Amino acid sequence: MKIGLLGLGTVGTGVFEIIQKRKEYLQKLYGQSLDIVKILVKDKSKKRQIEGVQDLLTTDPYDILKDPEIDLIIELIGGDQEAYEYMKYALQNGKHVVTANKAVVALHMKEFLALARKNKKAFLFEASVGGGIPLLKPLRQCSLLNDFYEIKGILNGTSNFILTKMAEEDLDFHEALKQAQHLGYAEIDPTDDIKGADVARKLAILASLAFHKDITLENIIYRGIRHIDKKDIYYLKDQGYSVKYFGKAITDREKVSAVVEPVLFQKISQFERVKDSFNMVSVKGDHLEELRFYGEGAGKNASANAVVCDVIDILIESYQRDFVVLEEQKPSTNGQLIEGK
Ligand code: NDP
Ligand code: HSE
Repeated sequence: MKIGLLGLGTVGTGVFEIIQKRKEYLQKLYGQSLDIVKILVKDKSKKRQIEGVQDLLTTDPYDILKDPEIDLIIELIGGDQEAYEYMKYALQNGKHVVTANKAVVALHMKEFLALARKNKKAFLFEASVGGGIPLLKPLRQCSLLNDFYEIKGILNGTSNFILTKMAEEDLDFHEALKQAQHLGYAEIDPTDDIKGADVARKLAILASLAFHKDITLENIIYRGIRHIDKKDIYYLKDQGYSVKYFGKAITDREKVSAVVEPVLFQKISQFERVKDSFNMVSVKGDHLEELRFYGEGAGKNASANAVVCDVIDILIESYQRDFVVLEEQKPSTNGQLIEGK
């Protein structure tokens, strides 16, 4: 399988490394080789962490997208406009697409799933929510069997890292954010992490898949954490609380209410014990009661692992079941979803 990789930043580098490491093993198992044959970057002269990739680099996306030899596009450039165009072009032209881009998925999931189904290709986006946690695949599968009525959680590694470091290491907001950026957790524009857009996008994706409704950012009320300072955190800690940046969506099957905001948790709560860049998601449904997913929510290796899991699903063609999930989707109720908190 020939792969065109769009982006060689934090996650792209991790994907390249994991595929290189496991290539032989996967080939032995499945009889097919995973070959990254071209890589899109913005600046070819930049020093790369991986040796020997220089010959694969291009700054022309259509050098990759129009290459008839390439079967699969892995999109990891971020942003919405160009990434949207490239993925759409790839799906329209018979290529599978894997992405970690929640900005595009939150806006265009339905369109891309339909396009993928029409062209009998895969559109997979496991790393777009919960970083390295295998979350979307089981959620989509269980959503066929359950009526989910609540989905909630800590969905942003950067903000959880900041709140943890402020509470436990006496860092101020800016120092903690700088560290999160240095560790590769933050978005290109970190205001998305701390003002709520990133969590709202992830909640929109989760709620759309869990409730089988078309939920977009406009349907979600969100406010950020920038106004929280160390004094607040110490005072609350004294009272036995930790602040977590939390997204929650509930439905009565007709309407959906979704909100993203800082929430206080007591020590007794599992959510209180989610530290650093880890995420935790809880989903409640009629058959499975409550299911919780916990793991590394951001960063190079965990996120790249989720991307490569999607690639394996394409390699073994298990993505075919996604067509079933889409068939079962109920009609959109977009525009009349929100009731407020
Ligand atoms: P980075 O900023 O580290 O990397 C982006 C890469 O894309 C760089 O190699 C850059 O090129 C290239 N690039 C950016 N814009 C363009 C463009 N217009 N044309 C060509 N190349 C471009 O991003 P991340 O790896 O952190 O994130 C990638 C995606 O993964 C985003 O959608 C993000 O939301 C998502 N994600 C990130 C996670 C994380 O923890 N970082 C976790 C889960 C998802 P160059 O190297 O030349 O600058
Ligand atoms: N910036 C995101 C976060 C990356 O910190 O959670 C993972 O989606």
